[in-house]
Amino acid sequence: MSANVYENPVWFARQEQSDPASFLMRGEDKFRVHTRAYTDPSVFAVEMERVFAKTWVYVAHESEIAQPGDFKTSHVGLQPVVVSRAADGAVHVFVNRCVHRGSVVCRESRGNAQEFSCPYHGWVYGTDGKLLAVSERREPGGYSERFEAPEGLFQLPRVQSYRGFIFASFNADAPELLGFLGRAKTIIDRKLNLSPEGEIVLHSRPFVVRYQGNWKFQAENIVDAYHFLHTHKGFVQLQAKFGDSTGDFGVHKGGSIKAMRKLRFKGATWNCEYGHGLLESPAGEIESYLTGEFAEFYEEIRRQHGDEELAWIAGKGAASIFPGMGMIHQQIRTWRPIGPDMTEVVIYPYELKGAPDAFNEGMLRSQERFYGPAGHGAADDVDIFARNQQGLAGNAVDWLILERGLDTDELEGADYRGLPASEAPQRALWREWTRLMAAGEQA
Ligand code: FES
Ligand code: FE
Repeated sequence: MSANVYENPVWFARQEQSDPASFLMRGEDKFRVHTRAYTDPSVFAVEMERVFAKTWVYVAHESEIAQPGDFKTSHVGLQPVVVSRAADGAVHVFVNRCVHRGSVVCRESRGNAQEFSCPYHGWVYGTDGKLLAVSERREPGGYSERFEAPEGLFQLPRVQSYRGFIFASFNADAPELLGFLGRAKTIIDRKLNLSPEGEIVLHSRPFVVRYQGNWKFQAENIVDAYHFLHTHKGFVQLQAKFGDSTGDFGVHKGGSIKAMRKLRFKGATWNCEYGHGLLESPAGEIESYLTGEFAEFYEEIRRQHGDEELAWIAGKGAASIFPGMGMIHQQIRTWRPIGPDMTEVVIYPYELKGAPDAFNEGMLRSQERFYGPAGHGAADDVDIFARNQQGLAGNAVDWLILERGLDTDELEGADYRGLPASEAPQRALWREWTRLMAAGEQA
């Protein structure tokens, strides 16, 4: 394949075999995805244009840039961006690329700055991304009187937030963020409503891991209830050995095989418009929450939201918010594409504002045990994503099967509601992926 093919989406559009619809085998009982959607470098190049540059992408949480001058570096697809709170409090998202000769202007992952000074030749930008100074501008051999300096760093045209989650888009015509999130707001709301103040704070250092596999494996997996007892067999056995619990919180509490199997029959799955996949699983025996160690805390949540909602808030919801962000347990997770077979995952544990310290502490320890660097869960999963990619090298076989629950999913508005064991959440990704890839072709 020539470099030109890799870089030129138009080439992709012209190829009959690259018609986005051809990546999906759809029928009443069929939902299959073609291997090339995960492996082909030309597909990956087109995804960056038609998916990541066209939709909303989560870039930061407001608690990470709470004060004027606070900034965080992030990515929208392959493009490095800076999320910055300017002196007037406004949030700007700009491409982290000096207008002079292209160096990143911000090399830190997080911090506070009065201005950004490019490390290469020292051009200076404000926290709003505007160019403030060109170094040694007037010295002999410098820039002439007629030199046209650009206004500043490239600003993403759309930046909106929902309950502290900041999203940005390169697409000036992207739908409003609230409409884009749709039913995924339910999971965000329930996660945040476990805070008596309705807010979360990203306080801990995130855990970063890279795997040699396609980004869509992580997007599918964070809402995959099917894999748990298989991929995490070692963890399940550990639980069994130590009395069905390796802790008092989250996934570590009461994790017997029987209890986990039962989970597969409670709640619902969702295949949502705009590509979001959801898992909803209510907590059982809510009385135990109201009489346990944190009774007062749960009572306050019940007072604010009612009995029925308390079961959902205390339950195990998870969301894969298309294309690169998810929520599970007490964490925000992002995954960013680096190449067709390389992805970076960042896990941000968060604290619930107003919750007892012991509760936040317990949740953090629980996260470490399952999702942390020495935990069981994250390692199991990223190993599988790399093995998926290895397996797909066997391209004598064309298709992957995503058909669980296809006959029991029911359309509700623009979303499909599935039974808990359905692969409805995984199908959500492919529904939106195909739509965006095809829309790019018509443009
Ligand atoms: Fe930034 Fe030259 S590349 S000042
Ligand atoms: Fe997993």
